[in-house]
Amino acid sequence: MLPSLLTLVALLSTAVVGVPLEPRQTAAAFPDPTVDPFYKAPANLSSYKPGDVIRSRSVQTVVNGPDVGASYQLYYRSKTTKQKPDGTVATVFVPKKPASPTRIFSYQSYQDSTTLDCNPSWAFVDGSASQNKAIVTLDTPIYINWALSQGYYVVASDDYGSQSAFIAGRQEGMAVLDGIKAIRAYSKLPKDSQVALFGYSGGASSTVWATTLAGSYAPDLNIVGAVHGGTPISTRDTFTFLNGGAFSGFAGAGLVGILNAYPEMNDYILQHVNDDGKKQIAAYRSNNFCLPQVVSTYPFLNFYPEIDVDDPLDQPIPKAVLSQETLLQSQADFKVAVPKFPLLQFHALLDEIVPYQDHADYVKEQCAGGANIQFQTLPIAEHITGELLGIPGSIIFLKQAFEGQTPKVICGTGLPDFSGLLFTSQADDVMGKQAADSIRALNGTKSVFGEVIKF
Ligand SMILES: *[C@@H]1O[C@H](CO)[C@@H](O)[C@H](O)[C@H]1NC(C)=O
Ligand SMILES: *[C@@H]1O[C@H](CO)[C@@H](O)[C@H](O)[C@H]1NC(C)=O
Repeated sequence: MLPSLLTLVALLSTAVVGVPLEPRQTAAAFPDPTVDPFYKAPANLSSYKPGDVIRSRSVQTVVNGPDVGASYQLYYRSKTTKQKPDGTVATVFVPKKPASPTRIFSYQSYQDSTTLDCNPSWAFVDGSASQNKAIVTLDTPIYINWALSQGYYVVASDDYGSQSAFIAGRQEGMAVLDGIKAIRAYSKLPKDSQVALFGYSGGASSTVWATTLAGSYAPDLNIVGAVHGGTPISTRDTFTFLNGGAFSGFAGAGLVGILNAYPEMNDYILQHVNDDGKKQIAAYRSNNFCLPQVVSTYPFLNFYPEIDVDDPLDQPIPKAVLSQETLLQSQADFKVAVPKFPLLQFHALLDEIVPYQDHADYVKEQCAGGANIQFQTLPIAEHITGELLGIPGSIIFLKQAFEGQTPKVICGTGLPDFSGLLFTSQADDVMGKQAADSIRALNGTKSVFGEVIKF
């Protein structure tokens, strides 16, 4: 599967943004994050406050549209799931012509893997040997270049932190919010700078958790709106949905991400898993085991028989952890917060990777709690198609949010032509005709997951 995947990425890269697959081997390419001192916590990490910038460097990235004024990476202080000091990296883009009032766009990538050298920050670096280039070459440049063309500052954080805690929502959410504080501090932006967020799939997990924690963890951020699609809501349900199926590799990655975040869960599973399972966990933690490897290495794997207890998710330790890692009130052992700002959320009805029903249930609960959500179901789409069909509507909503002009809808309902927008001239207007045409040209091609993309 890997060669065809790489061919596809090459095709997408050239089709969408004109970036060749083989990155230029610039002298500036950095060593990988597992050995790069830029990623290493200083001895006095705990002396810094969350969001403080500890070090920075100038980088050349694969996002190189005409509105990139400068790009940097910041190593900043955040927190782990267990509330311990953590340091992580954000890639930030300064617009050539900053908008007034100041606006910050927080873009969450879907790293979907559990080792430091798969981090978005290294994938972004032009000329790096990252195995995770696929996560920054599909639609990422469309969102970031568009935001820069509007004069927004852009921040894209390595939100799994130093422990590569994929899908551990608290870790992800806090790192996103601290990343926004970091760009605000580094670029000396006003305290009341407007902030909007976007993420799809794994990036939607980070985004939905950032929106959930914002009120308590970062009340001083002026968040005006957020968009997320294909959103994982419950780690338990997403794991169950994927386990044993074609995309079971993601179930394993999610499990390892949770093990990385919760030492008691790590001890418990390592005590009860057989040798095959131990080997798989080690593989997920090995260098260069990035999204392509996650998808292609362990399809159709059922993880339950590898564990020597019945109903492993319902044993006390996993059960307690999973009741923290959900945003469904019925599963959570804490009060799930309702964000105050407007949100657009969307999900493909036929999503084969992230279950639709949890997301629909979450929206229902949130609306009952007083949320302001436009919810768009994409009736004929699956995961990747949903990602692409969602672009024009997402961009339009983000612009409306910054301008305080989001449409009034009954919470939980959508607008009639959302997924059809890609085929209208409105899509050309918001994204540029070339980008819109490149997305449309993907109709009939194979997705990163080996399926045919159909619009
Ligand atoms: C942390 O240590 C470095 C190097 O000694 C020093 O320059 C810096 O000011 C310290 N930071 C804090 C917040 O204490
Ligand atoms: C996508 O391609 C299929 C054929 O593969 C075609 O039937 C369909 O109309 C195309 N969709 C759009 C919106 O052009």
